[in-house]
This record gives sequence, C-alpha cells and structure tokens, in this order.
Amino acid sequence: MLFLLSGCQNAEGQADTTELKLAHNQTLDHPVHLSLVEFGRLVEEKSEGNIQVKIFPNGQLGSEREVIELTQTGAIDVTKVSASALEGFASDYSVFSLPYVFKDYETFKKVMNNQKVTDNLYYQTEDMGFIGLTYYNAGTRNLYTKNREVRDVTDMKGLKVRVQPSQTSVQMIESLGGIPTAMAYGEVYTALQSGVIDAAENNETALVGNNHGEVAKYYMYTGHQIVPDMVIMNANTLHNLTAKQQDIIHEAAEKSTLYHEDVWAKSIAEQTKIAKDEMDVKFIEVDKDPFIQAVQPLHKRYSSNEETKDIYRLVQEAILGE
Ligand code: GCU
Repeated sequence: MLFLLSGCQNAEGQADTTELKLAHNQTLDHPVHLSLVEFGRLVEEKSEGNIQVKIFPNGQLGSEREVIELTQTGAIDVTKVSASALEGFASDYSVFSLPYVFKDYETFKKVMNNQKVTDNLYYQTEDMGFIGLTYYNAGTRNLYTKNREVRDVTDMKGLKVRVQPSQTSVQMIESLGGIPTAMAYGEVYTALQSGVIDAAENNETALVGNNHGEVAKYYMYTGHQIVPDMVIMNANTLHNLTAKQQDIIHEAAEKSTLYHEDVWAKSIAEQTKIAKDEMDVKFIEVDKDPFIQAVQPLHKRYSSNEETKDIYRLVQEAILGE
C-alpha cells in the first residue's frame, strides 16, 4: 500500500517526488498559462518539492477532447479545458454553455463560487476517472467575423460560425440563424483564413494570442456565453496522494483561480488595445435583446429535459442567492 502512495520514502530514506503532467491548449503568454504556472509553483512550494508540476502548453498533447480522455486514463494528471468540452462527458456541464444563462460576469462568479453547484459539478465525474479542482474565468464570448458586421440577429442568417465541440454551442448558433461548425480550437485560424468558416466566437485573447485578428476584422459584443474554464485531475492520481498533499493541491488550485482574476483583467485590456491599434479590428456594440429572445427555446428545453433540469435549477437558485 505504501508503495502506491506518492511522496513515500525510497530506500535511501529520501522522499520520492511525484511529477504531475498538466496539459492545456493556450500559448505561453496567455493568462491561463500564467495561472497554471502559479498553481505549479504553489504545489511545489507547499509540498517542499515533493510534487512537481510539468506543464505541456499549446495543445501539444492533443485537442481538449483528447486531453480529457488522457486525464481519464491517467496518462495526463491535470488538464485545463473549457466547460464546453466537458459536456460530452457529463451533461451537467452543458448548462454552462447555454447562451445568456449568465447575464454578466458578477452573476457568473456568484454561480461558480456557490459550493452546491461546484460540489455537484466537480465530483460527478469521479467514476469516469476525473474530478474538478477549480474553475478559471475565461471571459465573455463574443462573435467575430471576417467580413460581415453583425448588428442584429437577422445578420446571422447563413453565417458559417465555428463553435466549440459542444451540442449546446451548436444549438446556440442554429437558434440565432447561423450555420455552426464544431471544431477544435487549434484548427480555427486556418479554417477562418481559408474561408471554411466566416466567423468564430471567443473572448478577446483569441484575436491577439491566437492571431485570429489577422483574418477576422469585426468583433461584435454579443456577449452570448460566459463559459468557465475547468481545471480537472485524474481521480486516482489525486487519491493516491497523502491527505496533506491532496489539501495542498486543492488549496493551490483555489489560489490560482484568484491569481487568474488579476492576470485575466489585465490581459483583456492589453489585448483589446493591440487588436484595435495594431490589427485594425473593429469592435462593435450590439443590442443583445434580439439575440437573447432568439435563444429562449433553448432555455425552455434545458430547464425541462431530464438530463439538465436539476443543474439548470441549481444554477438559477445560485443566481438568486438561495
Ligand atoms: C477558450 C477556452 C479554451 C477553448 C477555446 C475554444 O479560449 O479558454 O479552453 O479551447 O475557448 O474556443 O475552443
């Protein structure tokens, strides 16, 4: 049994070190990477070097779907993916991709910091091999196009929009009148450039960090989704650590979420400025009401179908502060 525990003593009486492999699909200067570096730093410091975190950025280990699968098997220990990517594994995550489920960032935070919601979300995937450690703010998702200004929902007609591989996101674009194409993040730049798609939707870091602003020149503040990024960990890897080490992991994850708040806000301000001044991207305010109206049938569906009605209700209760 002792040999299964990481951090136990080896033959020379020294503590063994455990290396945790951590994968994500962002670049080295993206706030997500910086926050995961902070997570690793805290884990190493608090475990006195007994747990090391090795980060594989830039989607090196695969698309979000692939790294979730690798986290299930334990080939990867920790990964950061969008909640949208997790909905294919656990339907509760789909409600977090529901358009306009959070009217603003404050509402989103209220829900994501509600323990009833997070306990439900983080531990329900345990028998699938992984659990949630924390969430990161991934900003507000807005529509951006190569060459069409979208001022009203009617302008969405026939627009080919890349969405995350998530049923909810596919249904969202259909409800708005567009034509959704689900694909992994790493393929979006080429798809935009070659004209396979006319548009995509994401937070502002996609324009600069992922260079989408080189090809997409209109960024509309549709604010249709506020999807959390999730940090998940292989359940066995976590449980094989000592109780103290498990606490260290949980604490470091929570602290990195707070750290992320600051780096995120700074990065969005900087990247928006670069997109405007250096990439000539036009930022456009739109009236969200027609968009909100158009997706109401989706809310009806998610609040009543068997698979999602409980989590939908839990989210609404958290919004109301119950
Ligand atoms: C955001 C999110 C990523 C996700 C990406 C996407 O950037 O943080 O985890 O992969 O959106 O649109 O695919």
